[in-house]
Formats: sequence, structure tokens, C-alpha cells
Amino acid sequence: MQIKTLPFARTPTPSHHLSPPRATSPPPQRLHSMPPEKQEIFHSLSGWASQRILPLLKPVGQCWQPQHFLPDATLPSEEFTEAVRALRDRTKELPEEYFVVLVGDMVTEEALPTYQTIMNSLDGVKDDCGTSPSPWAVWTRAWSAEENRHGDLLRTYLYLSGRVDMKMVEKTIHYLIAAGMDPGFDNNPYLGFVYTSFQERATFVSHGNTARLAKEGGDPVLARICGTIAADEKRHENAYSRIVEKLLEVDPTGAMVAIGTMMEKKITMPAHLMYDGEDPRLFEHYSTVAQRMGVYTAKDYADILEFLVQRWRLEKMEGLTAEGKRAQDFVCGLAPRIRRLQERADERARKLKPCGVKFSWIFNKELLL
Ligand SMILES: [Fe+2]
Ligand SMILES: [Fe+2]
Repeated sequence: MQIKTLPFARTPTPSHHLSPPRATSPPPQRLHSMPPEKQEIFHSLSGWASQRILPLLKPVGQCWQPQHFLPDATLPSEEFTEAVRALRDRTKELPEEYFVVLVGDMVTEEALPTYQTIMNSLDGVKDDCGTSPSPWAVWTRAWSAEENRHGDLLRTYLYLSGRVDMKMVEKTIHYLIAAGMDPGFDNNPYLGFVYTSFQERATFVSHGNTARLAKEGGDPVLARICGTIAADEKRHENAYSRIVEKLLEVDPTGAMVAIGTMMEKKITMPAHLMYDGEDPRLFEHYSTVAQRMGVYTAKDYADILEFLVQRWRLEKMEGLTAEGKRAQDFVCGLAPRIRRLQERADERARKLKPCGVKFSWIFNKELLL
């Protein structure tokens, strides 16, 4: 999926040895776009967040851990080796393309420090001291802890499979965390929660599809792993969408305008600055493979938007100001427009000759894109 054609937009220029060459100079950043008086809304919603958002977290004792899905290294050596051999046998039939997508998904999960940093840049909901008892901060810390297992599990499984060049994968994660990311929230939690509602659903869709492909490809354990991660993403999506729902109730125009603003900026995928030290178009190439395999496509982008428009009942919203109405018209008419544009882009793409792209993650094997 290539949602954004300029993958390096909207971030400051980091030093050259930490990041890939930049295609364009970034536009100026806007900071603190939520009027300070609106911070009060989030304070006043603290009780609500404790009752309606925090219960969507799972108690640690009931949570799955990566070890539940991995060969147990405390077993006697032969038994452990046997479990690893079985894992490698199961992944044997999965195609190279599949590993490119799974590595890209895993790398995205592994840049979690960046996402927690971003959540803690949001005015009114950030964690002020690192252990703040505010329910917004409690959520962000616990959410990060739940997310942290996703990258850990996928990373260990991929390592044991022997199918990917871990050194190049690790280098990519290193570059990505060092590069950071600016999704365009302007420190504004309205924008932040619209984005995370969208993004958690996008990861739910994509992990769900890698689960399906693993099952079809002969690895039911990997299918269960991806499916379990997808279920976490779904729960997180539910929490963030519920927050936006509440904002639409207490501040209809403010929330509607935020949805419009975020959709106008486009939902930039979290790992769009990925780089392995070799391919400056790595994210675009990974996205193309994901699109080809049906793991995450431009159609999914439009579907997610449509789903959220329905879930938030945006078409039926009343009592908006003129600015809110403009945002409503824009957002409610956007999915069909994206679909039309995508059809035209697909048609153009069909006329292009496929070209070979080498991926360092799979030992520089070439895929036809
Ligand atoms: Fe995740
Ligand atoms: Fe997530």
C-alpha cells in the first residue's frame, strides 16, 4: 500500500548517518494546535476514562506472553532442538514475499519507543513524570507494555525460522527508532486519538491477513501468533475509537474537525521512515509487497475509513458549526474518492513493466514488483 507518495515528509532532517537520504524537505511543524482551554476536557473525562477505557486493558496475569508460543529453551537440549526443527519445518513452505511482509510488520512493532514518545507529547493526556496516576498516562504505559510483546514474539519467531537476515532486520530497527516519526499530531490529543483509532484497526487487518496466509502456507502456530496479536490490536482500536466517540459527544465540532484534519493529512504508516542502510525506498517496496499479497492495501485504507465513519455515526451528526459541517462533508465523501483514485492508479500500475527489487532482509533475493 502506498498511502503517502512522499515517505519522508513531515519530519525534521536528522543527521545523515542515522537516516536514509530524504526525498523532500519537510514542511514546518505545527505545535500545540489544541487550544489550552480544551485540556480541561481531558481532565474532566478522567473518571470516564478510568471506567470505560482502562477496563479494556488485560490484567498482566491473564495476558499471553511470547514464551507461550515459542520453543521452551529450558527443555533438555534434544527436545528444544526438536521444537526448533519443527518450527523451521512449518515455515519452510512460506514464500519469500511472506517474510518480507512479516519482517516489515515486525520492524513496525519494534519501533514502539517512538510511539510511546509520541503519545507522551499530547497535551492534556501525556505522562508528566513517568509514573503519573492519570488514567490517560496509565493507559499509555499499559498499552505500550501490551504492544511490547508483539515485536518480541515476531522477532524471536523470525530469528528461529532462519529464513531472514537478522543482522539486516536489526539494522533496520536501529535506523527506524533513531529516525523517529511525526504523524502530524501537533501535540493535539484529538488528532492523536483519531490516528490511533485508524492505525490500530490497520494493524488488526494486517496481522489478521498474515495469520490467514500462515495458515494457508502450512504454519498453524504462526497463524495463531499473528491472530493473537491481531486480537490485541482490535482491543486497542476499540479503546481509541471509544475515546473519539466520547469527544464527538462532548465537543462535536472540535472532534469532527479533528477527524477532517487528520484525514486530510492522511494517515501516514508508522514505519514509513524505515531504512536498512541500503534501500532508500524500503518502505515503499515493503508496502508494495504487502499490497500484492493482500496483507494491507489501499482498499483496506478506504474500508477502515468507512468503518470508522459508520462506527462514529458521522453522517448523522447534527448541530455542527459551518467548520464542522465542512469537515463532515469531506470525511463522509472521502472513502469513495480514495477508491476511485486507487482504481485509476491500479490501472496505470498494470501498464508498467514489473521490476526486480532486492530485499536485504531475505539475503538480497530479488522479488518482482
Ligand atoms: Fe502491535
Ligand atoms: Fe497496536
